Amino acid sequence: MKLATLTAPARAVLVGALAIGGLFAAGAPAPAATAPTPAPAKVLAAPDISLTNVKAHLTQFSSIAAANGGNRAHGRPGYLASVNYVKGKLDAAGFTTSVQQFTSGGRTGYNLIADWPGGDPNQILMAGAHLDSVTTGAGINDNASGSAAVLETALAVSRAGLQPTKHLRFGWWGAEELGLVGSRAYVSSLPSAERAKFDGYLNFDMIGSPNPGYFVYDDDPTIEQTFKTYFAGLGVPTEIETEGDGRSDHASFKNVGIPVGGLFTGAGRTKTTAQVQKWGGTSGQAFDRCYHSSCDTTANISDTALNRNSDAAAYAIWALGV
Ligand code: TRP
Ligand code: ZN
Repeated sequence: MKLATLTAPARAVLVGALAIGGLFAAGAPAPAATAPTPAPAKVLAAPDISLTNVKAHLTQFSSIAAANGGNRAHGRPGYLASVNYVKGKLDAAGFTTSVQQFTSGGRTGYNLIADWPGGDPNQILMAGAHLDSVTTGAGINDNASGSAAVLETALAVSRAGLQPTKHLRFGWWGAEELGLVGSRAYVSSLPSAERAKFDGYLNFDMIGSPNPGYFVYDDDPTIEQTFKTYFAGLGVPTEIETEGDGRSDHASFKNVGIPVGGLFTGAGRTKTTAQVQKWGGTSGQAFDRCYHSSCDTTANISDTALNRNSDAAAYAIWALGV
């Protein structure tokens, strides 16, 4: 069964309806049409994110790299082409987009920010992913995977015509691979009054590792629990993310006091036998043997991990933002 996120009043109505049904279930057959049907208007189930659509974005990022010297790295043409691809999709879907420029290593970098119109401007929920690759390859697991999942989640918000309680914002960061440069530039550009409006930031960096683990950041308890609840519903065990320790863009937000969370399927660290028992895969082998290598291509993806984590991204946005 699909997990549904209900607002508190809707949940109360449904719980009440179940209790009424329960009274009749024990005895005689329930009389027809006695219990009032709860209005379904506020039953806000997160959509199932299409793996096909997410993978189509990976294919596009792969083509962009191939057409631009084999990478999508900071300061290279494949990076700006990646920004323009994502921006085109978001603009067509009704987002308000902006491109923020910064300089690192003598080259211009770009962050792409997309706002979904509406929601409480004093309660911002943001999801993001780094869009740059290293220079050695196309960067499909690292991090076309997170970029595509965040893009498809944003497009799902648009398709749902969502009118969330919170203001939803999505971000694609430049120059993460140079040391979280783009996300730090973005956070630094926010006046402290703007930073105070953030309810949370959700990060998606490497979420389709070919020999995957299911790691949840443990920085903020509410965000952490939201992701854990999603995976519990799938019957997939998770572990706390420990390979990172501030090694991705959430650190830029956490450093200024914004609650953060996120998902990760593992990089160069080796999968243990205990982890293979819970998740399958190959022990004694890295979660991503192509981490920062030229073999980080569209073949370097676990479809199962990418699908689960993309759905988890949407689940969290709906659960925390709607
Ligand atoms: N951010 C790193 C990179 O892009 C990858 C990474 C290593 C990571 N450890 C992590 C990402 C933990 C998220 C969490 O190269
Ligand atoms: Zn990387």
